[in-house]
Amino acid sequence: MATNGKSNGASAGPSINGSAYPIEDHSYDVVVIGAGGSGLRAVVGCSEAGLRTACISKVFPTRSHTVSAQGGIAASLGNMGEDDWRWHMYDTVKGADWLGDQDAIEYLCRNAPQAVYELEHWGLPFSRKEDGKIYQRPFGGMTTHYGKGTAQRTCAAADRTGHAMLHTMYGQALKHNAEFYIEYFALDLIMEDGRCRGVVALNLDDGTIHRFSANMVIVATGGYGRAYFSCTSAHICTGDGNAMVLRAGLPLQDMEFVQFHPTGIYPAGCLITEGSRGEGGYLVNSEGERFMERYAPSAKDLASRDVVSRAMTIEMREGRGVGKEKDHLFLHLDHLDPKVLHERLPGIAELAKIFAGVDITREPIPVLPTVHYNMGGIPTNYHGEALTKKNGDADTVIPGLMALGEAACVSVHGANRLGSNSLIDLVVFGRAAALRCAELLTPGEKQPDLPKDSADLALTRLDKFRNASGSTPTAQLRLQMQRVMQDNCAVFRTGDVLDQGHKLIHEAHAGLADVKTIDRSLVWNSDLIETLELDNLMAQAVVTMDSARNRTESRGGHAREDFPERNDKDWMKHTLAWIDDKGSVTLDSRPVHAYTLTNDIAYIEPKARVY
Ligand code: FUM
Repeated sequence: MATNGKSNGASAGPSINGSAYPIEDHSYDVVVIGAGGSGLRAVVGCSEAGLRTACISKVFPTRSHTVSAQGGIAASLGNMGEDDWRWHMYDTVKGADWLGDQDAIEYLCRNAPQAVYELEHWGLPFSRKEDGKIYQRPFGGMTTHYGKGTAQRTCAAADRTGHAMLHTMYGQALKHNAEFYIEYFALDLIMEDGRCRGVVALNLDDGTIHRFSANMVIVATGGYGRAYFSCTSAHICTGDGNAMVLRAGLPLQDMEFVQFHPTGIYPAGCLITEGSRGEGGYLVNSEGERFMERYAPSAKDLASRDVVSRAMTIEMREGRGVGKEKDHLFLHLDHLDPKVLHERLPGIAELAKIFAGVDITREPIPVLPTVHYNMGGIPTNYHGEALTKKNGDADTVIPGLMALGEAACVSVHGANRLGSNSLIDLVVFGRAAALRCAELLTPGEKQPDLPKDSADLALTRLDKFRNASGSTPTAQLRLQMQRVMQDNCAVFRTGDVLDQGHKLIHEAHAGLADVKTIDRSLVWNSDLIETLELDNLMAQAVVTMDSARNRTESRGGHAREDFPERNDKDWMKHTLAWIDDKGSVTLDSRPVHAYTLTNDIAYIEPKARVY
C-alpha cells in the first residue's frame, strides 16, 4: 500500500537524539530518493522482488520533472520501417562523441524494446498506427544502417510521453507494497566507513526529521538545470542527490557536459519538443533561410542537439537572429497539416500559445537554445551501482549506493545525449538497478545500528541555513549564480570566459556564508528549502565550471573556441570532480569503457562526426 509516510510498518517510532530536532527512525531494504521515471521504475522492481522499499520525494510523484518530457522514448521496435538495436547503439555512441561507455550503451539499446513493451503492457497510452502498433517518430541523430538512413525510433504518446510514463508507473508502484514519503526533502546521505547506510529527510508538511536506514539507497533526484538562468527544467531540478554525494566526499563525473536544447520558447525557455522537427518542422533565420542545410547537409534540422544549438548560436552572433535584439530564431510548423499538429503535438500548441502568444498553425514559434539536460552526474556502472576512484581503481563500487536517471552518469550519453534516449535510460537502468538489488539483498535482512552521529551532518547543515542571518537574500545569490553559469559556461566556451567564470562562481559560492533566511519555522518553510536547494546547486555549478575550464578540447556539448577539435589522444576520458566545504575542487579522470558487453557488436571506433 502506498502511504504518505504516516502508516509505516517498518518504523522504529520517534526517538530523540539529544538535539533540538526529534528524529523518527525507519528501516527498509531499499530507499529510493526521487519519484521520477527512474525512481519509480526501481521502486516497482524492488517491491516486486519482495524487498521492503520506500520512496522519498520532495513533490507528489506525478509532479516529478519526467512529467514534462514531451517527444518520446527511443527503442528499435521497427514499427515504421526496419530498425536494429545495433544501429541505435551506433547512433548513441556517435551522438555521445565517443565519451559514452560502450558496455553500458549496448545494455541500454538492446534492452530498450523490452522496456517499452513492458510500459505498453502496464497500460501506457502510446499513440498508435493504423495497424495498432506503437507510433514512432524521427528524432535527431537517430539513423538506420549506421548513419545511412533516417530511423523512426522514438515511441510517443503524442507530445506528453513523460506524463503518460509517470502516471503509468506510479499506478504500478501503488499496486505493490512500496511506501511513499511524499513531500519529504532528502537532506543528506548517511555514510559509514565508505558504505552508504541510509538518508536523513525533512517532512516539509510538519517539520519532522526522518532517518532512514537501508541496505541500498538509490539516488534518482534528477538534474540541476536550475543552476542556469534559462532552462527547460522545472524549479525542482536542483540536483539534490548529486550535492549529497559531493558532501559525502564522493565525486561527480563529466559535469562540464551540459546540453542546450535547440528549441526553448523565447524568452520563457519552456521546451518545444524535438518531435516537432521530427514531424517536419524547420528552423529559419531572419533571412528566412533554412540555415541547418549549411551546417548539417544530410541531417539538417535533425542533427544532434549540440550541433543544432551551435549552429543557432552562430546565426544569432552573425546578425541573422530575428527580433529587435536578433537574439532568437523561428521554428516553423505552420506548413504542417493542422490535423497532424492537433493529434501529435497538442501540448506544444498550447505552450506556444501561452508563452509566446503564437498560433502554431499560422505563425512560427520564437525559439532559442536553452539548458535542458546534464550529461554529468554520479558515476555508475550499468547495474546502477555508484562508483568512486580508490587506490587508482576508478570503477570502485560504493557499497549501499546506486544512482539513476539524470542524477547518474552511467555513462550512456557521454558528451551529448540524443533526444528520447533519456526516457529509455530511466526505465532500462531503473529496472537494472532493481534486478541488482534483488541479486544483492535479502528481503528483511537485519541491519546493524546506525552510528550515533548519523544525522549530524544533515542537521548541522539544516540548522545553519535555518538560522542564517547574513545580508544576502537567497533569491539574490541564486540569480548571481545563474547569471554566471549562463554567461560563462554556455554553448560556446573559451579559456578567458571560463577563467572569469571560475572566479565569479567561486565568489558566488563564498556568498553562501552571508546568506539570509527570514523564516525560522520548520513547517512548509520554502525560504529554508530554497536555500538548501541553492546550496545544492552552488556546489554543482562550481564543479561544472571547473571541469569545463579543465577540459581543453571540444567534444559534444562542450565547445571550446580556443580548442575547437576533439582530442581523443589526451581527452578520451571522463572527468571526476570532488569539492570540499570551502568550495575547493579536485579533478581527476576515469577511463572510458572502450569495450562492449558481448560479442554481438564490436567496439565502435572513434571517427569524426558528420551529419
Ligand atoms: O525534445 C524533446 O521532446 C525532449 C526529449 C528529450 O530530451 O529526450
